[in-house]
Amino acid sequence: MADFSAKERPAVPQHVAVIMDGNGRWAEQRGIPKYKGHEAGMDAMIEIVRHASNIGVKHLTVYAFSTENWKRSMEEVSGIFQLLILYVNRELEELHRNKVRVDVLGDWTPFSKQVTSALNRTIDLTKNNAGLRFHIALNYGARAEILMAAKKLAGTERYQDIDEAGFAKLLYMGDMPDPDLLIRPGGEQRISNFLLWQTAYSELVFSDVLWPDYTPQEFDKAIEAFAARGRRFGGR
Ligand code: IPE
Ligand code: IPE
Ligand code: MG
Repeated sequence: MADFSAKERPAVPQHVAVIMDGNGRWAEQRGIPKYKGHEAGMDAMIEIVRHASNIGVKHLTVYAFSTENWKRSMEEVSGIFQLLILYVNRELEELHRNKVRVDVLGDWTPFSKQVTSALNRTIDLTKNNAGLRFHIALNYGARAEILMAAKKLAGTERYQDIDEAGFAKLLYMGDMPDPDLLIRPGGEQRISNFLLWQTAYSELVFSDVLWPDYTPQEFDKAIEAFAARGRRFGGR
């Protein structure tokens, strides 16, 4: 098991993105309601935020709810949003104390007033923090995001001259650096409509551990795997 002292720790990627998958199967394996799996998933998320902040990751982006997750039962969907509000409210003080800056990427249109105001409160309170930037992808879909950017562009004079960096600025994360490392726990090896533009050259690390069981040690293992990769970006 990877267990580094701060000194031995391999170079930490600037931006880590995580597809938090496996909550449902975790609950199924225990014969408990899915809600409990999502709850355990939130606990895992908070641990990973704390850890990422401690080891000096600059950006952590988590996939919390996709544009396709609306296909699930209303009960499951509203449970996920309720949990999110609960955790955001409960953890806000500690996040703020640890200088974490929170933002949310995705389409806010369908969010209830309760969700919107909990998110706005979190974003407002933490907006001047200089520590870890914690990006929550909520009602996020990469295709919807790219389409949104294309529509914004279509309404301007610039569409003929836009370059890749200019187009990226129209996406939710603006001029934030792309993820260096994309982690997907939960056993599946696919992107599921997450950050399609931004992960063009990200290193991918998959793990069979279900998200609620994902620990800082697992995260360190992913960073260790990342550190052993040779990134070439198409060059030599
Ligand atoms: C990920 O866990 C959380 C969300 C998609 C909201 P899942 O709920 O997809 O868990 P599995 O894949 O069914 O195990
Ligand atoms: C991806 O997981 C979305 C989130 C983790 C929020 P899914 O469980 O929705 O992805 P698929 O359906 O297995 O591709
Ligand atoms: Mg899943």
